[in-house]
Amino acid sequence: MEPAGLFEWTQEYELGIEIIDRQHKDLINVLNDVYSAIYEGDNIEKKLPELLNALEFYISEHMDLEENYAEKYNFPKANELIESHNFFKTTYSELRYYYYEKPEISHPTIQKILHLHSIMHKWLRFHLKTLDKELCEFLKEKLEE
Ligand SMILES: [Fe+2]
Repeated sequence: MEPAGLFEWTQEYELGIEIIDRQHKDLINVLNDVYSAIYEGDNIEKKLPELLNALEFYISEHMDLEENYAEKYNFPKANELIESHNFFKTTYSELRYYYYEKPEISHPTIQKILHLHSIMHKWLRFHLKTLDKELCEFLKEKLEE
């Protein structure tokens, strides 16, 4: 798979619920920082653990928020949303496991991390335009009621 590179945020990813949009930007930024750290390969042993911790924080903070909203307001696709989030969390865990399993930064390690990063990047793009978009449309109606 070609590396997916940096995620450029554009207006089409704005879903209209402020806290969710803000968290999406945080998630995109930290995912981009992971990519830059790997790609530039500079000080990676020092940078990557911090970035992986930040990524884990944003993932759980954000996904918990969306899942809580989905359950509270009976979003019809709540289970699908949770399953989709679980896929992303599993990919993240694999990346983290792989990094700590092989902390020496060799070429295959970099390739594997880039590969997992690309999966996460592509998942996020797709997820924002589909399930998250549906969730936000749904929530906007509910919150206006
Ligand atoms: Fe989201």
